[in-house]
Amino acid sequence: MREFILYARKAATSNDFSLNDLPGSGGRMDLVARCICNALWISHDLRRDSCIHVVACGAPNPPRVISFYGSLLRAVSPDERSIASWIKKAPKGKNPGIRVRKLSFQQLISELASDGKFFYIIHEKGRDISELYLKEDAVFIVGDHLGLPLKEEKFVTRFPHEKLSLGSTSYLASQCITILNYELDRQRMGKRVMLRSGFEPESLARKAEMIGRATLPERRAKKEKTKQS
Ligand SMILES: C[S@@+](CC[C@H](N)C(=O)[O-])C[C@H]1O[C@@H](n2cnc3c(N)ncnc32)[C@H](O)[C@@H]1O
Repeated sequence: MREFILYARKAATSNDFSLNDLPGSGGRMDLVARCICNALWISHDLRRDSCIHVVACGAPNPPRVISFYGSLLRAVSPDERSIASWIKKAPKGKNPGIRVRKLSFQQLISELASDGKFFYIIHEKGRDISELYLKEDAVFIVGDHLGLPLKEEKFVTRFPHEKLSLGSTSYLASQCITILNYELDRQRMGKRVMLRSGFEPESLARKAEMIGRATLPERRAKKEKTKQS
C-alpha cells in the first residue's frame, strides 16, 4: 500500500474547530484537508491502494493520528470542508475509512517499521527523485508549512529510509503529495523518466536523448559542418 504521513504541527486535536475558520481555529486544517485530498482522490474515484496518516500536534490534546484509508472511505467528498467535517466527526467512528488514535509520530513510525515498511523522508536536501527507482509499498513523510522537526526526522533514520528531494523549488506539502503520486503512477505504467546524476558524457547524452535535444559535442559537430559547407 502507498502510505503518506503528514506531520501537522498546529492541527487541532479537539473537534470544536470551526469549519468556517480551518486555517485559524483548525490550526491549518485547510492544509491538512488538501493533503488528504491529493493523497486519495483522482478524478471520479479514490485511490483504493493508498492511505494517509495525519499526525496532529496542535492544541488542546496532542498528539493524535487521523488516518484516511482510500479502500474504506464512504460519503466523503474531496472538498476541504467535507474532509474537515469528517475529521471533526472522526472520533465517533461513523466512517470505516477514518481512524483516530492517541498516538505520537514516533509511535506511528515504530508501528509501520515493525510491519517492514520503508520510509521516504520528503526533503528539499535529499537525493533527487529522478535518480531513484521508488518503492511502491513505502511510506512517504511530508512536513507541513513549518517542515518536519529535526528530532522526528532523526528518529525515522533509525529505520530503512531514503531522504528524497523533488528539486530545489520549495513546494506546498499538498503539492509534494501530488508530485509523488504522479511519479509513482508513471512508474507503475513503466513511463517514468529517470535521469542519472553526475556529469559523465554518457549521462549527459542520455539526458539529452530523453528530452529530445542534441548533446554539446553533437551541436558543435553540426556547427562545424555548417561552417565547412
Ligand atoms: C512548505 S514545505 C516546508 C518548508 C519549511 N520551511 C522547511 O524548511 O521544511 C512543506 C514540506 O514539503 C516538502 N517539500 C517542499 N518542497 C520540497 C522539495 N522541493 N523537495 C522535497 N520535499 C519538499 C517537505 O516535506 C517540507 O517539509
